Amino acid sequence: MRKKFVAGNWKMNKTAEEARLLLNELIPALEPFSHVERAVCPPFPYLMMVRHMLEGTNIGMGAQNMHWEASGAFTGEVSPKMVAEFCQYVILGHSERRTYFGETDETVNRKVKSALSTGLTPIVCVGETLAENEAGKTAEVVWRQITEGLKDLLPEEGLKLVIAYEPVWAIGTGRAATAEVAQSVHANVVRPALAHLFGQEVAGQIRIQYGGSVTAKNAPELFAMPDIDGALVGGASLKAGEFAAIVQAA
Ligand code: G3H
Repeated sequence: MRKKFVAGNWKMNKTAEEARLLLNELIPALEPFSHVERAVCPPFPYLMMVRHMLEGTNIGMGAQNMHWEASGAFTGEVSPKMVAEFCQYVILGHSERRTYFGETDETVNRKVKSALSTGLTPIVCVGETLAENEAGKTAEVVWRQITEGLKDLLPEEGLKLVIAYEPVWAIGTGRAATAEVAQSVHANVVRPALAHLFGQEVAGQIRIQYGGSVTAKNAPELFAMPDIDGALVGGASLKAGEFAAIVQAA
């Protein structure tokens, strides 16, 4: 049985004070739903503050990115160890990183390996663009992102991963994939690609989140699908009530 996992990706939003206010509301709102694994992913400068605020709760925290190197002359970058001092999770290969910051399947692969060897749980994002979707290339793109991004990992490492399927056309657009479309990609592309890499048994244990305009309204339908094991939530994770309602639906 895969435990549902809902993570809130705050992206580049909120002042420190706004983040504190959001958490003051969010922590008690999430407390009752411990049957769901839940995490917040704030911007880097707030990780220490949020860690302190989450102390004594079973709400997890993730970073939104990291570098693959352990240390050195990489101005502006954050190492896996630095992330691991505060976080259990790290989002890797988000489409915004791929689109605006030149991340490739190869850099994602380096980051995934580095995160795993540092003890972090990577949330690896995959998903096709609108043009790729319209050209009928969803399966091809997602298969490639998974098999290249997770290349050379052992099955026991595969077990520690979380995948987030986020069709780019659904991110921040208010146009979520239907539950049937998301389920079909999870069951017919993502899980078979994981089985190809790690075998059927391991693939059956890896959580696959859906991301892209998830709201309190569409969450119940999405979570009712057998291969949708949670969500990576952007915009709706910036409002305590809405995010808590999504967690409650899981
Ligand atoms: O990481 C989260 C996704 O990019 C989804 O963002 O919920 O604002 O569409 P969104």
